Amino acid sequence: MRRKLVAGNWKMHGSLSENETLLRGVLAGMADVKAAVAVCVPFPYLHQARHLLAGGPIAWGAQNLSQHAKGAYTGEVSAAMLNDFSCRYVIVGHSERRALYGESDEVVAEKFAAALAAGLTPILCVGETLEERETGVTEQVVARQLDAVIGRSGIAALAASVLAYEPVWAIGTGRTATPQQAQDVHAFIRAKLRALDAEVADGLIIQYGGSVKAGNAAELFGQPDIDGGLIGGASLNADEFLAICRAA
Ligand code: 13P
Repeated sequence: MRRKLVAGNWKMHGSLSENETLLRGVLAGMADVKAAVAVCVPFPYLHQARHLLAGGPIAWGAQNLSQHAKGAYTGEVSAAMLNDFSCRYVIVGHSERRALYGESDEVVAEKFAAALAAGLTPILCVGETLEERETGVTEQVVARQLDAVIGRSGIAALAASVLAYEPVWAIGTGRTATPQQAQDVHAFIRAKLRALDAEVADGLIIQYGGSVKAGNAAELFGQPDIDGGLIGGASLNADEFLAICRAA
C-alpha cells in the first residue's frame, strides 16, 4: 500500500514573514493529516524551513538543483548544498524549468541522477502541453521524458524517487485534468514501468499536479493510481493546503 504524499511547490512566492505564518498555520493543523506532507521552497528560505519544521511532521525541499557537483556555475545550487539544509526532496524537471529555462530531457536526467547520488529524493515532473494532448501524443511525450531518466539512472533508481504527472495545460490555469484523464495517464505510466520492474512500479508514488484545490482533491486522490499531489497556488494558503492534505 502506497502512502500518499502531498507536496507544496511554492514556486517564486513567499517572504520570511509570509512563510512563517503559512508554515505555522499548516503545522497547527497537521494532527489529523494521515498523508506524508512536504513543502518545496525557494532556496533562500531553506534555512527558515528547516528551523520551523525540523523534528515535525512536514518535510522540506527545493524546487531545482544543478546537475553539477561544484565549480564555475554562477547562480547554481548543488545537491550537496541542499543536503546542508537537510532537504529530503527536490523537484526535478518541472514544466516551468523545461519551458522557461530550456531544460532538456537530458539535463533533467542529469539533475535526477545528481539528486539521487546525494541521497535526496527527486520529485520528477512529467507532462504534456495542450498542443501535445490535442494531437494525441500525451503518452509518447510522457514516455520520452521517463525514458531519458531511466536510460541515465536505470529503472531501479526510480524506487528512491517520486513522480509527478503535471499536464502543462492544467498548471496555474484553474483547468484541472478530470480524475479520469489523470488516472488514465497515471495508469499508463505505472504499466510502462511495470513492464520493466513490477516491484518498482507498484511501490512508486505518482502524484498529480495542476490546479489541485480543496474542492477537487478528494476525487483526484481517490483514483487507484494517484498517490497524492504536487500543489502550486493552493499550497500558499494554510487552510486550503491542509484541506488538500486531509483529502489525501
Ligand atoms: P498549480 O497547483 O498552481 O496549478 O501548480 C501546479 C504545479 O505546477 C505544481 O508543481
